[in-house]
Order: sequence, then C-alpha cells, then structure tokens
Amino acid sequence: MVIPGHVAIIMDGNGRWAEQRGLPRLAGHRAGTENLRKIIEECVNLNIKHLTIYAFSTENWQRPPDEVSGLMKLLETMLDRELKSLHKNGVRIRHLGHCVGVNKRLVQKITEAVELTSGNSKMVLNVAFNYGGRDEMVRAVQGIISDGLGVEEITEESISDYLYTAGQPDPDLIIRTSGEYRISNFLVWQGAYSEWYFTDALWPDFNEQELYRALVFFGKRERRFGQISAQIV
Ligand code: FPP
Repeated sequence: MVIPGHVAIIMDGNGRWAEQRGLPRLAGHRAGTENLRKIIEECVNLNIKHLTIYAFSTENWQRPPDEVSGLMKLLETMLDRELKSLHKNGVRIRHLGHCVGVNKRLVQKITEAVELTSGNSKMVLNVAFNYGGRDEMVRAVQGIISDGLGVEEITEESISDYLYTAGQPDPDLIIRTSGEYRISNFLVWQGAYSEWYFTDALWPDFNEQELYRALVFFGKRERRFGQISAQIV
C-alpha cells in the first residue's frame, strides 16, 4: 500500500450520526472522538508521518452555545485522557489555529500538550482547532508585513513559512466523510495539489477499513502537479 506522508481529515457527520439514533448532537461528537482515537492509532501503526484533523473551525462558534461548549469540553477531556499515551507513542501535537476566544484552561492544556510532545518524531498530529484557512492567510499576511519582508521576498515558500503548518509538507490526501463535497475553509493554501477522497460514511463510522479504502484510492492516483502523464517518472 502507498502510504501518504501527510493525511488530513474533515471529520464530518457526527450530528447526523446522532440524529439517526435519536441522540443529542453531542453524543455524535463523543462517538466521533472515540473514533478519532482509533484512527490516530492506526495512522501511527501505518507510519503516516503527518496527520491533520479538523476539530473546530473559526465558523463553528456560530453553532448553538451548548454544542460549542460541549466540543470545547470534549477536546479538554481528550487531552486529559490521551496525552500520556500519545506522548508515549512518539506523537508530536501541533495546534493549527489561534486561541482568541478560547477559555484559559483549555489554552493552557493545548500549550502543555504542544510543549510536552515537541521533541517527538514518530508522527505529527496537527489539531486544527479554532482554525480557518482564510483566517490563516490573513494572519500570514499580517506577519509578513509586520516583519517587513520586501516585495522580492514574497514567494510561495515564504508565505508557507508564515502559515500554521510552517515546515511541514502539504497534505497528500484529504479525506472528507459524510457525503459532503466542500473544502469548508480547510487547508486552503496547503491543499492546492492534494488528492481528495470523499466517502458517505459518517465520521463515527469511519473505521480502519474505511481508512484502508481511502489509502487504496490514493495509491491509484496519478499525481501530475500540472504536468502530463508522460512526464511523470
Ligand atoms: C462535524 O460534524 C464535526 C465537527 C464540527 C467536530 C469534529 C469533532 C470531533 C470528531 C471530535 C473531536 C474533536 C475534538 C474537539 C476533540 P457535524 O457536527 O457538522 O455533523 P453534521 O454535518 O452531521 O451535523
């Protein structure tokens, strides 16, 4: 199997999974979190070096307040529960996003997780939390201007260096569950040449087998990056 260096996932469909069972939406997010544990573990086993998950977007603040606070609590619980074992397994946690509007205790936990695992090299787990692709670009431009870069210094590489993903390869494969075909402000710059895999499976049902299916699909893609087939070695 061809193992992509960087896999990114839009974990969509938690709400519908819950609604189908007559459960509150948060039950779906809880099931999604349980599923996430298994998928992270499987990605470590498969030797995927970078995994990016879309946990909370800058637009998700518009959801009902109890869902927003429930998602915050879930991330906190997940960090409390999983940090030790992620660290033990050599996972380096990085945060993609900013902390404006996030409660202090959670910000502290995210900071601690990032610092504790900063020396790990088995896999980078990018948690896109309070993340938006356009917001990321606005902040990159602000950073570039405030650092006083000259016009000739503005290149694709220097812009990449001002994004949250600085120093990391672009995603090779982006997976979106739940039958939605949208980018939803996720890795807008970095995903320029990613392969996209869409599945109808709702996120809590996206198990290891579903992941293999996505990887098999990826293995069959011919990545041309603007060239033609004959030029690809
Ligand atoms: C999209 O499903 C999912 C989210 C907005 C949150 C994803 C979060 C998790 C999988 C839990 C792990 C994350 C944290 C914060 C620990 P949806 O609610 O849009 O589903 P729907 O489209 O069916 O309503």
